[in-house]
Amino acid sequence: MAHITIIGSSNTDLIMQVDKTPGPGETIIGKQFSVTPGGKGANQAVAAARAGGDVSFIGCIGKDVFGNLAIEKLDKDNIDTSSIFRDSDAPSGMALVYVDANGENSISIAPGSNFELSPKNIDESLGKLSNTKIILTQLEIPIETVERAAHLARKQGITFILDPAPAASLSDNLMGNVDIITPNETEAEKLTGIALTNETNIRSACEKLHKQGVGTIIITLGSRGAFLSNSDYSQLIPTYKVDPIDTTGAGDIFNGALARAMSEYEDIREAIKFANAAAAISVTKLGAQASAPKKSEIETFLKRED
Ligand code: ATP
Ligand code: RIB
Repeated sequence: MAHITIIGSSNTDLIMQVDKTPGPGETIIGKQFSVTPGGKGANQAVAAARAGGDVSFIGCIGKDVFGNLAIEKLDKDNIDTSSIFRDSDAPSGMALVYVDANGENSISIAPGSNFELSPKNIDESLGKLSNTKIILTQLEIPIETVERAAHLARKQGITFILDPAPAASLSDNLMGNVDIITPNETEAEKLTGIALTNETNIRSACEKLHKQGVGTIIITLGSRGAFLSNSDYSQLIPTYKVDPIDTTGAGDIFNGALARAMSEYEDIREAIKFANAAAAISVTKLGAQASAPKKSEIETFLKRED
């Protein structure tokens, strides 16, 4: 099985369920409050491991109780945590998450120690993970660190997947080292300047990203599924109809499951189907990591739906 290394953030998510997210100056009475492990990097690591992957996580976590708990949770999912750096000064990452009655979320993060993960840390840790075949990362760590990981991946022939979240503009230098990019609609618009209002615009956005040197583009489109564009295909891979409770981390579960499926399926469309199924299951449950399904659950879901 191909070894997957996830490089990225770990946060503690403070989740408040509300009817409607409060506006400026507004105080509202919320519903349930929960504290759960999160962070795009850690969520993707859990999703890939539960989907059956052999996974290592590289990140920087504070030396505090939240950090200890975050690592305990990763260990429980059999993720190799030996390449996690601990920072004595910066606190572990925190996220404030509102989830409204439609399952939609609004999130702000205090990155803390996540922003201390340096390019040097990547040199040290990737050197030890010589069996890595796939690297998956996001943008909740310093951009120089992401650039370094992409550069090393290209040099070593490792497949580099970038989930460009949260939305940001990226250098041509970085884009030229990315094999697969997985923006959502907002992120694709930020990267290309094209609003994805219809399929023609989606194709134009993909063309723009291909011109920057990215071979495979997978734009996630929420309840519609994901649009694939590479040298063989340019098509929507639809997802499954479910009743969403909380979409927090849907993109993370999609990415983690995709990285896992890439090492199992030769046809990338099958890998996307698997990732769509994992993410569809996840939106029917509360929380990010908490909602990541196991491989058996994804396979049963796919058998029922197909
Ligand atoms: P988030 O920020 O909420 O984690 P995202 O904005 O990064 O998600 P989306 O495009 O909203 O990413 O969703 C990612 C994937 O999750 C979709 O491609 C789809 O497979 C699945 N998904 C999201 N919402 C739904 C839904 N309502 N029903 C079924 N599947 C969904
Ligand atoms: O994608 C969802 C994640 O974004 C949450 O777990 C939160 O911690 C932020 O990183």
